[in-house]
Amino acid sequence: MDLIIRPVNLSDAGDINDMRRQEGIRDKTLALATETLAFTEAFIRNFGTDDHVLVAEKDGKVVGMIGIHLLKSARQRHTAALGMMVRAEFQGQGIGKKLMENILDLADNWLMLVRIELDVTEDNDRAIGLYRSFGFEVEGKKKYSIIKGGKYADLLMMARYLLPSQ
Ligand SMILES: CC(C)(COP(=O)(O)OP(=O)(O)OC[C@H]1O[C@@H](n2cnc3c(N)ncnc32)[C@H](O)[C@@H]1OP(=O)(O)O)[C@@H](O)C(=O)NCCC(=O)NCCS
Repeated sequence: MDLIIRPVNLSDAGDINDMRRQEGIRDKTLALATETLAFTEAFIRNFGTDDHVLVAEKDGKVVGMIGIHLLKSARQRHTAALGMMVRAEFQGQGIGKKLMENILDLADNWLMLVRIELDVTEDNDRAIGLYRSFGFEVEGKKKYSIIKGGKYADLLMMARYLLPSQ
């Protein structure tokens, strides 16, 4: 597959806005159908040195995105929150795996982060399968944490640890 993994650019805002509003993404993330291009541009512009965001580009179009965001507290700088998505029609084709490999190489070998954490809805088998295959473990459940299709749904908290040898 002719897939390019590269840092996000402001010019990707249109593709990312379109992707975030897709069915098959919205129901599994915090995205909303009303997100404007200006919102997405601001989202990208606001990324700073603690935000590491990669996109997957295929035939000139962004088809996936992954980001790790370092926590701000001086005593939690070894921790990052992870978010990711792949365009609905490209899911299940190994793009998520490729994005995860790239971001974990950065996290493990270039930032040497100890903890990467994320939240995922309980019914998101594909995401949970991907996370487990990269060593993420379920740490607990946030009850009624997210609105999803007219209901309050639970979120699983997952994390992966890479402690320096002790
Ligand atoms: C979750 C998501 C990012 C995964 O990306 P993807 O490109 O679809 O996943 P991949 O094709 O790379 O699959 C990678 C791994 O996921 C797991 N996986 C894939 N499909 C699965 C399924 N139906 N059930 C369980 N595990 C599955 C497997 O471990 C697979 O590895 P393998 O092919 O070596 O077995 C993508 O499906 C997506 O964007 N979903 C909607 C938004 C979302 O859920 N974002 C995450 C919110 S926490």
